[in-house]
Amino acid sequence: MAVAKPIQIRFERYNGDVGIAPAKPPEVLAPGEKPALVERAKKLLKERDAVLVAHYYVHPDLQDLAQDSGGTVSDSLEMARFGHEHKARTIVVAGVRFMGETAKILNPEKRVLMPDLQAECSLDLATPADQFSAFCDQHPDRVVVVYANTSAAVKARADWMVTSSIAEKIVGELHRQGKKILWAPDKHLGDYVQRVTGADMLMWNAACVVHEEFKALQLEELKLKHPGAKVLVHPESPRAVIAMADAVGSTTGIIQAAERLGAKEYIVATDNGIIHQMRKRMPGVSFIEAPTAGKGATCQSCAHCPWMAMNGLHNLLDTLEGKPGHEVFVDPEVGRRAKVPIERMLEFAKRNLPQMKGSGDA
Ligand code: 13P
Ligand code: SF4
Repeated sequence: MAVAKPIQIRFERYNGDVGIAPAKPPEVLAPGEKPALVERAKKLLKERDAVLVAHYYVHPDLQDLAQDSGGTVSDSLEMARFGHEHKARTIVVAGVRFMGETAKILNPEKRVLMPDLQAECSLDLATPADQFSAFCDQHPDRVVVVYANTSAAVKARADWMVTSSIAEKIVGELHRQGKKILWAPDKHLGDYVQRVTGADMLMWNAACVVHEEFKALQLEELKLKHPGAKVLVHPESPRAVIAMADAVGSTTGIIQAAERLGAKEYIVATDNGIIHQMRKRMPGVSFIEAPTAGKGATCQSCAHCPWMAMNGLHNLLDTLEGKPGHEVFVDPEVGRRAKVPIERMLEFAKRNLPQMKGSGDA
């Protein structure tokens, strides 16, 4: 396979500067190649006592493989929970680095592997642990709540970790207890949670390169063309886009909302990888991608995370075959501290979100 040139992704740093990070273009399979790769991956997963835990944004081939081999396709919260509760000795995470790190932090005794360890997230990149820690030091009166999309070192500095499916509930509870919050990193999710809960939240500055590109004006135009369509929005999107939503939720939340609302047509404002799962679950229903950069087509991610796209069948097979460079390591001391806010969230989820399930965990 020819090695394609990396794509350069621009993202906003916490201080407003522009950062640039590489992503590898997704692999393209040769015609007819897929069935043999899938069969080999299934065999290796069994032989290695490994379970595949995939995010909704990765390629449909990996989503299907995860579901067909006894793994799961889910949102970040369920990925963490599923990997933690599964008996397999190896967890293979098809997603981005923070997801692999979370699995390792929760399961230091297991092997955690990823198809590509360089699969980043703009929120994680925009939150360097040293600067973040200094920011926390300046505000000792605040409870530190960080989103899952951060490094192990940032989690180690936090009191709570949250994902988009539980952020509102945890911050709401802290607010009821009279606590003031220091929130990082996603400014749009933070803004949304702040408005819903009324909590006192001091925000870090960062955004998701995918969701930030959804455009309210173009969404308005699209809605005019599809008057019956309901709008589903991930809360990493800008406020004006969220304002047009019929339902706002995590990736799992968006799928559940579509099942609940029962419309014939949906406009989906999140990474388009999720549409594969929605079509599988709701055949006959139409799913339209929300517009990104509009008519100029200047979007850089165009509703698909360039780092999630780095997961493919070939590098998954390299991972399962034991090629070097796929194992996730977290400094044990950092991991020990980072585990505290993650376990706090999982405990809270057990008490408050018992019904949440990804696909694959029947
Ligand atoms: P979810 O937890 O909703 O799956 O979100 C993860 C993510 O990275 C969204 O961009
Ligand atoms: Fe990060 Fe955005 Fe990619 Fe999710 S979609 S992993 S938030 S860059």
